[in-house]
Amino acid sequence: MKCNKVVLDRSEYEIHIGVGLLDHVSHKLKEAGFKNKTVIITNPKVKSLYGENLKASLESAGFKTALFEIPDGEEYKSLRWAGSLYQKLNRFQAERMTPILALGGGVIGDLAGFVAATYMRGVPLIQIPTTLLAQVDSSIGGKVAVNHGQLKNIIGTFYQPKLVLSDISTLRTLPVDELKNGIAEIIKYAIITDEDFLRLLMKNMQLIKSLDLELLEEIIYRCAGFKSRIVEEDEKDIGMRNILNFGHTFGHAFETVSNFQMPHGKAVAVGMVAATLVAQRFILVPESVVDEVKTIVVKAGLQVSIPGLDIKKIMDVMEYDKKKAGGKIRFVLPKGIGEVFITDAVDKTVIKQVLEELYEKTPDMRYSGRE
Ligand code: NAD
Ligand code: GLY
Repeated sequence: MKCNKVVLDRSEYEIHIGVGLLDHVSHKLKEAGFKNKTVIITNPKVKSLYGENLKASLESAGFKTALFEIPDGEEYKSLRWAGSLYQKLNRFQAERMTPILALGGGVIGDLAGFVAATYMRGVPLIQIPTTLLAQVDSSIGGKVAVNHGQLKNIIGTFYQPKLVLSDISTLRTLPVDELKNGIAEIIKYAIITDEDFLRLLMKNMQLIKSLDLELLEEIIYRCAGFKSRIVEEDEKDIGMRNILNFGHTFGHAFETVSNFQMPHGKAVAVGMVAATLVAQRFILVPESVVDEVKTIVVKAGLQVSIPGLDIKKIMDVMEYDKKKAGGKIRFVLPKGIGEVFITDAVDKTVIKQVLEELYEKTPDMRYSGRE
């Protein structure tokens, strides 16, 4: 087992990463000073895979445990479902010191985290992430939120967990597309912070995809460390935490145009390639950097272009996002591998050229707009 620590001005917490950690949750809770009651929030799929066993083991360790289910899907990360959880917590007589255990991927982590932040003005939150994306990203750093209509993560706050427990054996049951969503974020960390880590990923991508748990433990530990250091520096996301959005400016537009049918990892992967192509035009980043980004993306089984996407619509989404963000599109661009910078000075023609370059390499990606 490996352990990272996040140290913030007003709180600190540990991130434990290891195989079989779900069997030790009751012990970890007792160590952290919790007793009497716990609440697990999960979805039906994760409940049947891990939730029922976790509930039984907490009960046999003396915790009165309730398990609340939310249907599986992004659309249930909403105020309405948060409301149903408040009612259930109240019926269970959850108290100020009753910890909420968020067992699942980022959807459950964000929703249960939001509920923990707001129920009785805040009850302890334990993140138990079961997707690779949640283990390397969403369970760390305290961003909790719900969606509202079409607006993603629009209602939320920063609420740090008391503990993060990442049992990497849960990754064995993860569908391959979900695994790739996490791998895209892992690649992102390498490009934004650490060239040696990119070499490690280049060398071992096959082992990562085949779920070598020893290697994954090391990789998740390193990513949790990268994220922890960034969050320590800029907890409230007013400066350098923005670098975590590398690949996400384009990625978000790709996802939006596909009506969120495109997997997040695929959108971020092409988004990272697109951002690197922008950097090549903007600050003359060498071709070798573009090649490295494309190579790692391909090794991960992700794509470097998206057939069928509509460039005009992508530009429109970016324009819309720009208006919402005060008239500027903010990009995170690589200077090289392991170093990025943030800029809002990229010209629209450069963005269009980059999208067209992706289009040229992908014959069925149509440009349907007018000049
Ligand atoms: P998810 O939570 O929807 O989980 C993906 C799928 O995997 C679901 O169907 C889920 O039931 C299933 N699943 C979970 N664990 C499993 C397991 N071990 N075995 C089999 N199936 C399993 O998706 P996600 O990618 O984990 O999270 C995406 C969400 O995270 C989005 O809502 C996004 O906004 C949010 N997010 C938050 C942050 C943050 O900092 N708070 C960062 C990134 C993303
Ligand atoms: N996933 C982006 C952040 O935590 O800031």
